[in-house]
Parts: sequence; structure tokens; C-alpha cells
Amino acid sequence: MTVHDARRIRVALLGCGVVGSQVVRLLTEQADELAARIGAPLDLVGVAVRRPQRHPDVPTDLLTTDAAGLVTRDDVDVVVELVGGIEPVRGLLLTALKNGKSVVSANKALLAEDGAALAAAADESGADLYYEASVAGAIPILRPIQQSLAGDRILRVAGIVNGTTNFILSAMASSGANYAEALEEAGRLGYAEADPTADVDGYDAASKAAILASLAFHTRVTADDVHREGIRDVTAADIAAAKALGCTVKLLAICEQVDGAVSARVHPAMIPRSHPLASVSGAYNAVFIEAAAAGQLMFYGQGAGGPETASAVLGDLVAAARNRVIGGRGPRDSAHADLPIVAMGDTRTRYHVALDVADRAGVLAQVAGLFAEHGVSIATVRQEGRAAERSRTTEDSRGGRGGEDERVGDEGDGARGSRDATLVIVTHSAPDAALAATVDALTGLDAVQGVAGVLRVEGLGRPVTELGGVS
Ligand SMILES: NC(=O)c1ccc[n+]([C@@H]2O[C@H](COP(=O)([O-])OP(=O)(O)OC[C@H]3O[C@@H](n4cnc5c(N)ncnc54)[C@H](OP(=O)(O)O)[C@@H]3O)[C@@H](O)[C@H]2O)c1
Repeated sequence: MTVHDARRIRVALLGCGVVGSQVVRLLTEQADELAARIGAPLDLVGVAVRRPQRHPDVPTDLLTTDAAGLVTRDDVDVVVELVGGIEPVRGLLLTALKNGKSVVSANKALLAEDGAALAAAADESGADLYYEASVAGAIPILRPIQQSLAGDRILRVAGIVNGTTNFILSAMASSGANYAEALEEAGRLGYAEADPTADVDGYDAASKAAILASLAFHTRVTADDVHREGIRDVTAADIAAAKALGCTVKLLAICEQVDGAVSARVHPAMIPRSHPLASVSGAYNAVFIEAAAAGQLMFYGQGAGGPETASAVLGDLVAAARNRVIGGRGPRDSAHADLPIVAMGDTRTRYHVALDVADRAGVLAQVAGLFAEHGVSIATVRQEGRAAERSRTTEDSRGGRGGEDERVGDEGDGARGSRDATLVIVTHSAPDAALAATVDALTGLDAVQGVAGVLRVEGLGRPVTELGGVS
């Protein structure tokens, strides 16, 4: 590492978009305060972008399109990367670290895919690698895991770490809208991109889960290790069914240490309305941590946005700059535990299953027998006559009432016979593979006309009393 004389810390910025432009603003507006906190002024010495003409607010002499040249310049101490994506950023940051520059990045995709290579390059040169803004935007979460909880043992990290999907699910819950309508609204209000794939299919959350699991369990977890399901298949009926059970549906990133192994997964799940994560609505993010000694902790705030994310970036930049001034380096990533990753099939969860069945004697016994055959124990069963419920819902919606009655009249069930019924089953915890196999097998039963909905149910450290008192 090149130890600078510490009279000034020279910063190169890669990318000056939504977040980068706010970093430039804060660096300028708070220059004196930052210098006082660090013990040396921060000098912005270069800003790499693709299209310099689009950045009239940045002094022309700082702008460059030569990012590769900028990261190797002798007069750069810290590289702040706010470009995003894997290439060419991976090569740029590896070069910067190998050249002894500290790196601050908000790039979850890169950290989740190749954090190990970046950490190794940082170790080799003795430079810092900070990436607080890569998970949950403004919320301080990586530093608390890495530093504040360094003396504790983290058991589980469960987060709502994608604002777009949380906005969509919240809109579905509050208005009864279906997925397509809520996605359309999210796009109109600027919460969803024109191509929402990374958000709604869970890729973004899976990257964040990989980063959280790696730090929480001292094990290198990549995005490929994370089981991923998005929210496209969540229906208005699922949301209503959750409501009827005293639950709400959230897209969760769940990282757990179970029997000496790590489970990391992203999927929609019902959680009890009494759980702190259930009240996180709109585009907000929150991360709920359970630790052996600290107990339950929750971190809540804005998971995205220019100024919000820039706040986390500047926190990292101040830390990296202070280390330069003092001549040391910050805490390193440690993968010493090197725990195995549990396959999703072996991860224990609970299922909520809604089945359209023929309303005749013996059906319940047949269905229950099939669960037993697969070693899945049933916690609760409820049967509803769909025809009766459907007509009640129609009257209620005319009368402006909502609530639990929205759970019936499920999408697409209007054509079925008047004697049909819906069976709503909540299981005890069982291996995911056994639950999935049970649902598969159910579709082969004559009496089962269709599987109307399947969602995992997660207590997340709270008893699911509404569902039978089992946590
Ligand atoms: N936006 C958020 O709320 C948020 C929240 C948390 C984390 N993040 C992360 O922060 C990072 C930046 O996000 P953002 O929303 O600020 O992105 P953005 O608005 O799209 O800005 C990207 C910037 O990178 C520049 N750029 C693209 N390719 C480049 C290249 N090859 N060389 C040099 N510069 C290049 C672009 O230049 P031009 O402007 O000239 O095109 C632009 O200034 C991403 O990793 C993202 O995941 C963002």
C-alpha cells in the first residue's frame, strides 16, 4: 500500500449518475466538515463517465472517459465506484486494489459474484474494500454485522432488501390490486425500471443475500449459492389468503446458519403481521437480525435513492480516508468459517397450500394421507365452500367491504362447479423438497382440481400463533 503523506486524500469517482452525482454534491457541500472528521481534506481528482457532455455540474477538468487510466493514476488514494454491473468494473477495481488504492463500491452484483477476488486483491496490497451501500442503500447494515456484532454469533439475517418488490407487494395488500396493476403503478411512480427483471425475479435481492450471508457467517457465499424466486406469481388471492391468516406477504432474503451450514434464499413468504418486518411497507427496506447474545435487532430505512445511497458511500469514504490518515486499514472480510451451503431442498420451511377440491366425503383424508406419505405434518386445515364464498364476496365488493372476504373469488375459479370447495392447509416445518414433492403429488389426485396457491410461511424468530402456535 502506498501510504500517502495524509495532507489530503485524493479521490477518483467512477460513474456520476443517480448516486455518483450526489456523492459529488455532498463532497462539495460538506468539504470542511468532512476534512475535520477525517483529519485531512478530500480532494476529488477525477470523475470517469461515459458521456461527459451530460455532466455540466462537474468541472470539465475532472471529467474523463478513461476510467482505466484514472484508477492507476499516482495521485489517487481512493477509488469510489458507482457505475454498476460486472464488466468493465471488475477489471477496474482489481487494478485499483492491486495498485494500492482503497475501493468504495455500491455494486452488489459484482460483490456477490466476485467479492472473493476483490477481497484477495485488497489483502494483497493492504488496501481497504468497503461496500456498505451495496445492501439496503442508506441503512447501516454491513458495518453492524462486521463490527458491532463481531463478538456475537449471528443465527439468522432476514431482510426486505428490494424496494421495488416491497412497493408492489404493499400496493397489492393495501388496494387488492393484482401483480400487473401494482407493477404498472410502481413503474409510473418511478419505483420500477422499464425492465423490472432484476427486481421482480429476485436477482437483486439474491446478490444482497449473498453479501449478507458471507459477512454474517464468515463464509464466502455467491449469488449462485442463493435459492431465488421472485414475486411474479404472487396473486391477489395469495395476499388475501395471507390476510385471512393474520399474515402479510413479503419478498424476503433469508440467511440462516443451521447445523453448521449456511442456507441463503430469496422468495416470497407469509410472515405474521405481528413481526416487525411485516410493517415495512412501500419502497422501504429493513433487515432483521437474530444473534445468540444480542437477541433480535432490526435496521430500517431507505434502501435506495441518490442522496440516501450517497450517505452510505460517504460513510465508507470517510472510513477509508481515516485509515489512510492513520496509516492502517479497516476490518477485512473473513471467510474463515468456510461453512457448506445447504441445498434449498434440505432447508426446512412451512407451506401454506390452497387446493381447489371436489366437495365430497373422503377428500380431506386423501389429501392428509398424501402429506403424511411425504413426511409432512399438517398444522391446520380449513375448508371453504367456494360457491357460497364467491357469492358473498360479490355482494361485499358491491357494498364496498374488503378484508378477509377478498380471499375468495380467486383469480380464474369462476367457471368451476357449485359443489367445489377450497382446502387451505398450513404445514409444520419440513424439508422444502418434501413440501414441493407433496404439492406435486397433490396435482395427481383425482379429487384435487387445482393448486390455487402455494406460499412459504416464515415465523422468523416469532411464534406463528395465528397459525397454530408453532414457531
Ligand atoms: N440508484 C440507487 O438508488 C442505488 C441504490 C443502491 C446501490 N446502487 C448502486 O450504485 C451503483 C450506481 O447506480 P446509479 O443508480 O447511480 O447508476 P446510474 O445512474 O446508471 O449511473 C451510472 C454511471 O456510470 C457511468 N458509466 C457507465 N459505464 C461506464 C464506464 N464504462 N466507464 C465510466 N463510467 C461509466 C455512467 O456515465 P454516463 O452518465 O456518462 O452515462 C453514469 O454516470 C450501482 O452499482 C447500483 O447498483 C444504486
